[in-house]
Amino acid sequence: MSPKPSPIKPLATTIAMTSEGNFTKTPNNPEATRTSKRTAEFVTHLTIFAENGETVDSAFLYIMGATAQVNAAPKAANSPIILRTASQLLKAETIKVIGHLSNQVQRQNFLRFKNRIEEISRNKKTDIVLALDFPFQNPKRRTTLLSRAKAVLDVVHPYVCAVKINHHLVLPLGTFGGVQTLVDIAHDKGLQTIIDCKANDIGATNQVIAEYYYSAGFDALIANPFVGWEEGLKPVFDVGKKLERGVILLAYMSHKGAAEGYGQTVVDASTGKPLAQYINFARKAVAWKADGMVVGATVLDKITELHGIVGDSVPIYSPGIGAQGGSAEATRKAGARYLIVGREITQAENPAKVAKSLLASTSM
Ligand code: XMP
Repeated sequence: MSPKPSPIKPLATTIAMTSEGNFTKTPNNPEATRTSKRTAEFVTHLTIFAENGETVDSAFLYIMGATAQVNAAPKAANSPIILRTASQLLKAETIKVIGHLSNQVQRQNFLRFKNRIEEISRNKKTDIVLALDFPFQNPKRRTTLLSRAKAVLDVVHPYVCAVKINHHLVLPLGTFGGVQTLVDIAHDKGLQTIIDCKANDIGATNQVIAEYYYSAGFDALIANPFVGWEEGLKPVFDVGKKLERGVILLAYMSHKGAAEGYGQTVVDASTGKPLAQYINFARKAVAWKADGMVVGATVLDKITELHGIVGDSVPIYSPGIGAQGGSAEATRKAGARYLIVGREITQAENPAKVAKSLLASTSM
């Protein structure tokens, strides 16, 4: 019989918060207590380590008015250490437990998004990202829409590595309403979550967009490189880095009109020579350390060309399978790392069967 492991002793007294940074060192073990303050007063991720370095508790803490909300694994959500610390750190009188994270998500919190989704994809042997999209419904029937989204997620989750949400659900359900519920459910099922908001504004606005979506729990967002870096997407990348969340850039969209923008020939500022806009964007994705780039499954030649340029440094996400005419197998062969699939699954009579069949052809 193996010896009984000694009980983990939490270092409750060493919990501390830095104003900006990620690590608070303790004399007995520099890594023993690590707190990561997310945005100024909005979201905090807290991990309590034991003397032996094992994670004892982990939680996201939110401040909503006078109420602090705790989103943690079931064990941690009830942990007196977490609750006491939340009340001390957030100076809140009421602590409300709003959900829990799966063990898998907790373990992956400190990996970069690109690596988190890669790990889930490899473990589950799936490269499918579910686009949780549904047609317009009378807004009065929002509850039905939420139930439908939950039902699809429930049957499809074994076959996908992430869920992508966009205006289809954000507009009717609200970011901190039904959408956050879906994000929590996806996390419980061990999936990553992507908000397809195509951030495309001035930097100050982009930053707030990112902060809200990341606060709702999204692991990554999609942004449009047309707005450029300085006072454009730099603030989004900065927030993402601080919160350990990802940014995926558009490189060449899946619809026909994409040729008018992403397909234009521009002048390369550094060489003065002509350059295809989408190649320019792919180079930016590498330079800005993006977690991925979107290239439509309807433009296989572009996938192959861009994969040849960036290799595996920036994984390619391809929407446009099925409803838009793209083929899963051809898209994989062209070099896409992830397939974004919406209507083909969500509108199917048997969404799980379709998701599974899309997997069946994969060589992963
Ligand atoms: P379907 O139903 O066509 O849904 O499988 C595809 C999903 O992906 C979104 N989409 C895109 N998102 N770049 C993106 O970032 C694109 O080129 C692109 N094309 C489609 C679409 O809104 C839907 O959610």
